[in-house]
Amino acid sequence: MPSSSMNKNETNEQKQSLLKNDDKQNKTDIGANIILIGAPGSGKGTQSARLVERYQICQISTGDLLRQATQDKTSLEGEKIRRVMETGGLVDDETVMSLIDKSINKPECRNGFLFDGFPRTIYQGEQLEQLLESRQKRLDAVLEYAIEDDHLKRRILGRLIHKSSGRTYHEEFNPPKQPMKDDITGEKLERRSDDTNETLSARLTTYHKQTKPLIDFYRQRNIHRSIDATQSVNDVSKQSIEIVDYLRKQSTYKPSTSAIRQTETDDTLTIKSKSIINQRDVDTSHLSNNFLFIYNAVISVLRDRGII
Ligand code: AP5
Ligand code: MG
Repeated sequence: MPSSSMNKNETNEQKQSLLKNDDKQNKTDIGANIILIGAPGSGKGTQSARLVERYQICQISTGDLLRQATQDKTSLEGEKIRRVMETGGLVDDETVMSLIDKSINKPECRNGFLFDGFPRTIYQGEQLEQLLESRQKRLDAVLEYAIEDDHLKRRILGRLIHKSSGRTYHEEFNPPKQPMKDDITGEKLERRSDDTNETLSARLTTYHKQTKPLIDFYRQRNIHRSIDATQSVNDVSKQSIEIVDYLRKQSTYKPSTSAIRQTETDDTLTIKSKSIINQRDVDTSHLSNNFLFIYNAVISVLRDRGII
């Protein structure tokens, strides 16, 4: 059955060697420009930590940057942002774009960047495209962590965070060694103020209405791939890395108008059919739980028999 639980037997050492392969990692492995799209609790933050380490790139999480902006209790701007976040809406594009503009120039982004939770609207996607074009940068991969809303409540309501480092735990799926204490510093773990039942439903509505249209936006640009986010954390990481490694070798990204004009050439068809065979371009987000279960079972049998 599609599991939303982490494999508790995965040791830190196993996680490290799966992702880093440090001794073997050479310069050509470094660098990528990645976007993660997914509903609240789909695993964007969890996977970001692993991908930035793997590609030695910077993580730009607009959620984290906006939370930082709310820390100054005397700032009116911060108070405005806090209210929007706690009601599950989106912070205005101008504020978000100015954060992006500042972040992308940081020295830690010299090898590339990973956007966690940005862009969230078509407008932000278009703005990002212009910003990257002006800096002669391109996107390599847009990974969508696809998961049904039903799975997310448990993930969000059980989440624990270590505020200063951003480390994330889960009461059930990834518990800290000592209850409510960070494994590294021993400091107290907290819950996010928007991790409540009511705010979660508003966040999900916002995601479906305003962010999901971006999936077609990036599909037209040939760099979107959907990953089944109900898998274990390690499986999602493995698939994410495989896809990024594959896509960054391609020159498939077609920015702005050229993407809309683009027709299905033989080349793109070959790439698409290859991706489907590799289970990389299958959008499972619209499937019901029952169909998703059958779909995953078929894929796993085909894999076991070496057919795909
Ligand atoms: P943001 O902070 O980005 O929140 P979100 O999109 O709602 O996503 P989350 O951080 O809640 O979930 P996640 O996908 O990172 O999941 P995680 O890895 O932690 O944004 C917050 C708010 O800021 C927005 O609502 C909006 O108001 C504003 N905002 C942000 N960006 C904006 C923008 N661009 N424009 C306008 N407004 C913006 O995982 C969740 C839990 O599940 C964890 O406990 C984890 O341990 C567990 N878990 C993860 N993966 C697995 C797995 N495979 N199996 C089992 N458990 C797992
Ligand atoms: Mg997050």
